[in-house]
Amino acid sequence: MDINAIQTQIDSDIQNINSPEKLEDFRVRFLGRKGLIAQLTGSIPELPAEERAKFGQQVNTLKNKVLSLLEEKKKSLQVQPTTIIAAIDMTMPGIAQELGHLHPLTQIIDEICAIFNRMGFSVVEGPEIETEYNNFTGLNIPLEHPSRDVFDTFYLKLAGKPVSQFPPEADQPLAEASLTGKPANRQTGKLLLRSHTSPVQIRVMKAHKPPLAIVVPGRVYRPDAVDASHSFMFHQIEGFMVDTNIRFSDLKGVLEIFAKAVFGKDIKMRFRPHFFPFTEPSAEVDISCIICKGKGCSVCGKKGWLEILGSGMIHPNVFKHVGYDPKKYIGFAFGMGVERIAMLKYGINDIRIFFENDLRFLKQF
Ligand code: PHE
Repeated sequence: MDINAIQTQIDSDIQNINSPEKLEDFRVRFLGRKGLIAQLTGSIPELPAEERAKFGQQVNTLKNKVLSLLEEKKKSLQVQPTTIIAAIDMTMPGIAQELGHLHPLTQIIDEICAIFNRMGFSVVEGPEIETEYNNFTGLNIPLEHPSRDVFDTFYLKLAGKPVSQFPPEADQPLAEASLTGKPANRQTGKLLLRSHTSPVQIRVMKAHKPPLAIVVPGRVYRPDAVDASHSFMFHQIEGFMVDTNIRFSDLKGVLEIFAKAVFGKDIKMRFRPHFFPFTEPSAEVDISCIICKGKGCSVCGKKGWLEILGSGMIHPNVFKHVGYDPKKYIGFAFGMGVERIAMLKYGINDIRIFFENDLRFLKQF
C-alpha cells in the first residue's frame, strides 16, 4: 500500500467532515480495530526484513497525523459559546420563582429568642415526647395535681401498652422518694406529650451547672377542645436563669425589656401574684392593653390588662430534683404561649388560623 496515497486520501477526507457522526466514521475507518492503520501494521511481518523498520516508522507518523487531525476537527465541530448566546432571546421574560417565607409563628419565635439572646440567653430545645418525671415530678407537680390527670395529658402507649420503662436513666423515683419520704411513684417511667416546655429546665439543669441563662422554644400538647383561643397543640417559650445571686428584680427587668421590645416601649407591666408548683413566689405578668392603652375595651375584657405569661422564682424542690444545692443556687423561670403573644401583637382573634395554612393569612407576614 502506498503511504503517500493514503496520506492524500486522509487530507481530503477530513476536509469534508462536518458532523461529529462523520468524524466518528473517519476515526473508525483509520484507527478502528480493522481500520487502515491496523491493516498496515499487520502487514509489516510480510515485508522484507530491511524494509520493516522504515515502513513501521511511516505507519506511526501516519497514525499520529490522523490523531492530531481528529483532535483538531473535534474542536472545530464543538458549538462555540457565542453561538449559544446568539440563540437566546435576552428580552424574553424569565421563569418566575415564587419565594416562600417562614411561618408567622416561626418568625415570632425567632424574634423573641433573638431578644433574649441579646440579653445573654442561649437557646435550647427539648423533645416533645417527655417522661412523666420531667414533665411533672421533677417540677414539683404533685401526683394529685389536676394537670396530671390522665384525661388532662396525652399519655403514650406503645403497641397498646403504657411505656413503663423509658429511658431508665430519665426516670428518677429515688429522687422523689428522698424528697417526700414516700415510696417511689410507680408512674414515673411513663411517657407523654409534654404539656409545657418547663421539663427542659430539668434536662438542662441536670446536664449543666449554673450560671445558666436559657430560653426554650417548642411545641406543647394539651387535650383541650379546640376553639378560638384553645388548641391541642401550641407553642411556648420557656426562659430561666440560675446563679448564686439572682433576684426577683432581675426577672422583672428581663421581662420588661422583652415586653417592650415586642409590644413597644409605651406599654406598662403588672406582676400579679399567682401559683405554680415549680416557682415560689409566682406571678402572672400582664401588659397594659395594646388596643385601648389600659382604658378597657373588648379585647382586654374591659380590664385594661392582657396576661402574657407565667413566671416566678424556681422552687427549691426543683433544685433538689436536679441535684443543685437550694441554699447555694437561686433563679427565676417564666413561660409564655407564642400564639397568644402573636395574636396580641398582630390583632389575630382566632388561634386556629395559625394551623390552617390559608395563604391569604400566611402571605400577610
Ligand atoms: N409552665 C407554665 C405553663 O405552662 C408556665 C410557667 C413557666 C410558669 C415557668 C412559671 C415559670 O403554664
